[in-house]
Amino acid sequence: MSWQYNYADIHSHILPGIDDGSRSMEQTVRMLHMASAENITTIIATPHYIIGADNPPVEKLVKLAEQVQQEAAKINKDFKILLGNEIYCRDTFFKDAVIDALKSGKALTLAGSRYVLVEFAYSASFKSIRLCISNFIYHGYIPILAHIERYRNIYRNMSNIEELVKMGCCIQMNCRSVTGGYMRLKAPYNRKLINYGLVHLIASDCHDDVKRIPIMQKAVSYLESKCDKELLQEITIENTIKIIENKYI
Ligand SMILES: [Fe+2]
Repeated sequence: MSWQYNYADIHSHILPGIDDGSRSMEQTVRMLHMASAENITTIIATPHYIIGADNPPVEKLVKLAEQVQQEAAKINKDFKILLGNEIYCRDTFFKDAVIDALKSGKALTLAGSRYVLVEFAYSASFKSIRLCISNFIYHGYIPILAHIERYRNIYRNMSNIEELVKMGCCIQMNCRSVTGGYMRLKAPYNRKLINYGLVHLIASDCHDDVKRIPIMQKAVSYLESKCDKELLQEITIENTIKIIENKYI
């Protein structure tokens, strides 16, 4: 019998019609039902924010999040929808522009905390990722590196990941990357990263209700027999609470 809990999903593209995630409120509602079935009761909506691109104004995101919150409450009165961004740092050239966007409130931290969900190009060099990460930390933010399994220049080199963690960066991995599926060849290595304590959070990074779906309980149930229980509890429950409460992980 696997443990069950009310999970928070800190990485999702559930706001309708705003990025490459949900395309309509109808799809969003279907995703909310799926999330609810996965025991997810808090979702941080993290639409893409691309430095140097024409991004949707925050007011629009807030309005959409409120509309999604209303739909979520119909499914479960305790369902919470919070807001953030997944910030794409396409180049070290933009590293200070990212900070300006955060400080001016154009780009959002996770649920108003000091935590910032950041992503890079799949082919980004370790040096460029490290430079941007250190810049966030220098300015008082705590970067969470989204889907560590995607960056080909650091993913297979544990010492690189370790270096980022020692600097104060948090590491996020997608749920579907540990359970197999299309990531099945990488899944054993991904679970090893978790057992080595190099992953702070797993999250769904859901984009739709067909392929990139909301998932959490399935990942937890799958990992229970394969990962250290305390670590698993940390990366699925305790650390998400700390983010939302703006406490240090
Ligand atoms: Fe994402």
